[in-house]
Amino acid sequence: MESILNRWMLIPIMILVILFFLVTKFYLGTAQSVKRLEGVTKSPLFSHINATLNGLPTIRSSGAGIEKMMRNKFDVLQDTHSGAWYQVLACGTVFGIVLDTITCLFIACLCYSFILISETDSISGGDVGLAISQSLILTGGLQYGLKQIAETFSLMTAVERILQYTNLPIETTVTSDDPPPPTWPSQGQLMFKDVSMKYNKNDPFVLKNLNVSIEPGWKIGVVGRTGAGKSSLISALFRLFDEGLKGEIRIDGRDTSTVGLQELRSKISIIPQEPVLFSESLRYNLDPFNQYDDMRLWEVLRLVELNEITLDHNVLYGGHNFSVGQRQLICLARAILRNNRLLVLDEATANIDSHTDALIQDTIRSNFRDCTVITIAHRLNTIIDSDRIIVMENGFIVEFGYPYELLHDKPDGYFKQMVEKTGNQMAQNLLEQARKAYQKNKNNRNLDLSTQSSGGSDIIITEQSKL
Ligand SMILES: Nc1ncnc2c1ncn2[C@@H]1O[C@H](COP(=O)(O)OP(=O)(O)OP(=O)(O)O)[C@@H](O)[C@H]1O
Ligand SMILES: [Mg+2]
Repeated sequence: MESILNRWMLIPIMILVILFFLVTKFYLGTAQSVKRLEGVTKSPLFSHINATLNGLPTIRSSGAGIEKMMRNKFDVLQDTHSGAWYQVLACGTVFGIVLDTITCLFIACLCYSFILISETDSISGGDVGLAISQSLILTGGLQYGLKQIAETFSLMTAVERILQYTNLPIETTVTSDDPPPPTWPSQGQLMFKDVSMKYNKNDPFVLKNLNVSIEPGWKIGVVGRTGAGKSSLISALFRLFDEGLKGEIRIDGRDTSTVGLQELRSKISIIPQEPVLFSESLRYNLDPFNQYDDMRLWEVLRLVELNEITLDHNVLYGGHNFSVGQRQLICLARAILRNNRLLVLDEATANIDSHTDALIQDTIRSNFRDCTVITIAHRLNTIIDSDRIIVMENGFIVEFGYPYELLHDKPDGYFKQMVEKTGNQMAQNLLEQARKAYQKNKNNRNLDLSTQSSGGSDIIITEQSKL
């Protein structure tokens, strides 16, 4: 309308459109970044609230100190989020003010232009009023449209975050072209050759040049200070961080890098420190692929003394309706069911009572007698009667051998020092247990040799299997 009445108004209109475009472009970049920041600061707040609600009994029972700490942490997280949220609101408001100012300037130009041209042309007051009201409506509509576009773009950061999760790098070969035979590994022999591992490309190595050979049926204890790389050793075995893994890991002579990840991982049983259970029935948790009949499932439940729980018992989210010990027993039952040659326990007995601890140890001893068992332990008495001990320090294997030999032959060794730190009485006990296990082991080896020379006898084999 205004351009019909006054052609010169086309210039301010063009300027208005260009200004709106530039301001919106500038605002979109900022708004998206600020909105992203708001999203990033919101997640820790929710995780904190979630963790607080889950651990409420523990927090309350730990007294005022922990309560205060949790409250302070909540305040810090909330402050950070409020700061980011304030930025989002402030950006939106500034955008609105800038658009309003541009619109005001445009309307001012329009009004003054009519004053100027009224000196040369005669324009009726009605036309001027119509032009001004039309401009107000149009610029108002334009502003609203721009604000909506900007809002849509900044909310799209939520979609962007979801897409980030869907585009996570996918693990490479889940199954291989040359799968190992279904009976692999029939022995359970394990060999690490020059194995190094790092979690991320730019990180330093956390496992450094490990060389170790574990014979079938050995019970191995892994000890070391916190952060020494014990759990990383297990991650390497499962090839969880395949990209950062160097060297060879062989199971029964087969290089695990030539085996599909699914094939490899299904052949190694693990009882993690924090057992994972699905929100499903106990039957599903034990046998997710429906491979075993109920009789067998009952049998393994009986072995781990969980016979009072029915197979249809529902497991709640994260297994919270079971105690940690019970969850580990369910994992153990799962491991017995799968009957793999390799079993890994990552500090599985760290936070359970001594009865369950003993039950787990006994069950492992009787059910995994011929299997290779790797136990990561902080309690030295769980691994003192192992066949070999791996001592880790700073990503290296610093000692490897019979527990008794390490204690006896290396008075300044790492393992000896760890045992001594448990106190005089306990150290004596441990040494005695290690000596007995060593003696028993030695006797069995002698028996083994005599069996070989005499052609073997059933009685001696039974004797051996008690190891
Ligand atoms: N997911 C990860 N990403 C990056 N670095 C990690 C990761 N997990 C562990 N690390 C680093 O690897 C090193 C070894 O950690 P690891 O968890 O193997 O120690 P650990 O011996 O199991 O300790 P703990 O006895 O406390 O369980 C540590 O320095 C740790 O900071
Ligand atoms: Mg660990």
